[in-house]
Amino acid sequence: MDTHCTAIEMDVLLYMLKKCYHMDFMHYKQASLQRRVMAFMEKKQFTSGVDLISALMKDEKLFLELLTDISVPVTEMFRDPLFFLRLRNLVLPVLNTYPTIKIWIAGCATGEEAFSLAIILDEEKMLDKCIIHATDINQSALSLARMGYIRKEDLPNYQTNYQKAGGTGNLTTYIENKNGTYAITDKILKHIHFHFHNITTGSYMSGLNFILCRNLFIYFDKQLQSEITGFFMNSLRPGGFLGLGDKESIRHTQYIQYFEPINEDERIFRKRYM
Ligand SMILES: C[S@@+](CC[C@H](N)C(=O)[O-])C[C@H]1O[C@@H](n2cnc3c(N)ncnc32)[C@H](O)[C@@H]1O
Repeated sequence: MDTHCTAIEMDVLLYMLKKCYHMDFMHYKQASLQRRVMAFMEKKQFTSGVDLISALMKDEKLFLELLTDISVPVTEMFRDPLFFLRLRNLVLPVLNTYPTIKIWIAGCATGEEAFSLAIILDEEKMLDKCIIHATDINQSALSLARMGYIRKEDLPNYQTNYQKAGGTGNLTTYIENKNGTYAITDKILKHIHFHFHNITTGSYMSGLNFILCRNLFIYFDKQLQSEITGFFMNSLRPGGFLGLGDKESIRHTQYIQYFEPINEDERIFRKRYM
């Protein structure tokens, strides 16, 4: 099958998604976005961008399928374990001096990053005073996250990551086997509020002590990265932390001056008191 979606069709598609579904992909990196749209077209047997656009205009279910396919909800528990080790050693001791801790995990995918953070907070006896919001645009991923679902075949890798992240207990005490399906225990899950939120819309939480947003900026162009860094800056309390992980950078943004680097390798910053 000869599938094609020209640059003009891509532009029209993105305009339509913004107008009809309030989902703005215009400042995502276009080459990788186009590859994912084409893969979706092949899967759904659309040969031209025009056909896809007209079908999407009439079919919200198809739009939700497209959203699921192009949003790359790839994640794992204790992904890049060194990042979690740095959090444990550099960030949590400061946060632990506060009576309550408000945390936002943006782009949480199927929740593994939120589970990992909550487990560390539990080990540090901080979880009870934390309010954790974890958000994403992918509703299917959020449904799995709310169930705490873990793939059995991922467990050995998660054990290794957990040890490298400085885990002090046994990861299996946080995972239960419910009739052959593995899930994070309710003790952890009940502390995480998973909900839909589109980070490109400009509506943000406030009074946050910690924002975690890893492996999401890589999909955005520099302009959107900069805008979102500005929103993060406003959402954080003075002294609040921003954890971006080693794939991201905010060096090019005008907001870098408002952040003190805490760990350069893992891109962990602290909002300055100004
Ligand atoms: C590669 S995953 C990263 C997951 C996790 N943060 C990690 O590092 O393991 C990127 C996630 O960002 C979400 N995402 C993409 N665009 C978004 C947007 N505009 N607002 C919120 N989440 C978005 C995707 O649905 C996907 O689940």
